[in-house]
Amino acid sequence: MRISAHAVVRMLGTWRNGPGPAHRALSDRLRLLVLDGRLALGTALPGERDLATALGASRTTVSTAYRALVDHGYLATSPRSRATVRLPGGQAPHLPSASPGETIDLSVAAPPAPVEVLHSAYTAALQQLPRHFDRHGYDRHGITVLREAVARRYERRGLPTSPDHVLITNGAQHALALLTRTLVSPRDRIVLDHPTYPHAIRTFTDARARLLPVALTPEGWDAGQLRAVSRDADLAYLIPDFHNPTGRCMPSAVRERLSPGCPVLVDETMAELALDQPVPEAFARYHPSAISIGSAAKSIWGGLRIGWIRARPALLDRVAQLRSGLDLGTPVLEQLATAVLLDGPDTYQSARLEKVRAQRETLRAALAGQLPQLAVPQPPGGLALWTTFPKPISSRLAAIAPEYGVTIAAGPRFGVGGAFERNVRLPYTLPDDQLTEAVRRLARAHHAVTRGETGHHEPASVA
Ligand SMILES: Cc1ncc(COP(=O)(O)O)c(C=O)c1O
Repeated sequence: MRISAHAVVRMLGTWRNGPGPAHRALSDRLRLLVLDGRLALGTALPGERDLATALGASRTTVSTAYRALVDHGYLATSPRSRATVRLPGGQAPHLPSASPGETIDLSVAAPPAPVEVLHSAYTAALQQLPRHFDRHGYDRHGITVLREAVARRYERRGLPTSPDHVLITNGAQHALALLTRTLVSPRDRIVLDHPTYPHAIRTFTDARARLLPVALTPEGWDAGQLRAVSRDADLAYLIPDFHNPTGRCMPSAVRERLSPGCPVLVDETMAELALDQPVPEAFARYHPSAISIGSAAKSIWGGLRIGWIRARPALLDRVAQLRSGLDLGTPVLEQLATAVLLDGPDTYQSARLEKVRAQRETLRAALAGQLPQLAVPQPPGGLALWTTFPKPISSRLAAIAPEYGVTIAAGPRFGVGGAFERNVRLPYTLPDDQLTEAVRRLARAHHAVTRGETGHHEPASVA
């Protein structure tokens, strides 16, 4: 697959931030895009001259950056063809790791499965499965028992909901993609929290929408600013419940005050991860026309791949129509298992939240000990700390960190146009010992960055 120079420039954002020569900043940022998976393996990069022109940089800058990437195994070249993306040794990025000698993945904010309850939910689901055997099994809205269970969840969050208002998807990301296909046309203007969830940025950018980021201030959402910007917009995508990446929760007063000037899509994937306060009331309680998406990924397990959309039945019918161009429904067994868990007692959830709270403390303590210069706000929920360094080093740190045995998601992934170069999102979903070790490795990587190293080393030996 070829990628144009302009697409690369968009992905690079403000790559020149920070000290050091331009070619090094460029190769670091390109390397990060490869490690993050944003530049897919096998992608053919633009020619040096085209990229230099699009970047407004010299050709020498681009050719030196490309050469460094070739030398370190991130690009393959052959005569008369474009340089293509590869990985050193051919390994996949972000290999999950369990053992201390291997890379620790701090780039994903998702908890492991609740083993026993999930196992027994699947056992119950298997028993119920034969009831579905006399039907074809293709159900673009999802099976009734799960739509009913999701509707009951909304009722418990103060929002009367009938199963007709629920469509089951293969995860919240799928819900987002389906709604984007249904609602968004090229050049539409979409309001976003800034920072926001990276795959949402990607989904809207792929749909050729124009993004209107509205900064989350230290106090949270700015209702006035959101109102003003949304007047000119076609859609607003907000994450009011334990926002990813900051973990903030939009206060009821702000929900009430908000009077958006365009349709609103709220992503409630994180809603149940309420660590220091109750689960918030559903956003659509205040704004009945809001479209909500939800997921079992964080409250139960990402591997279920179950999500949903709550919206007017007419809109859900349009989504279901369009869905057949992509997929023909969600696996019945996973839907049954999710329904068992959504309807069952919530006891495992409180044990899980207790554990996540303890892991948050472990991560905070490790950061205070090893990286005291990092500002670490305490989120009221969610699965990650949105941390701030005094200097704009995030991309360089993310580029070098794998050599110290840890992978992280750099701040600019969560923003538009290269913003958040001082931020790093650090999830607390790993066991305590891995969190402590990951921070130790991160501190070493940080030390290397502040010494001016660039990430083109032999991997450090990590014990
Ligand atoms: C805000 C937000 N939306 C959507 C998703 C994707 O969820 P799913 O795994 O259900 O596709 C995530 C996952 O981290 C998320 O944080």
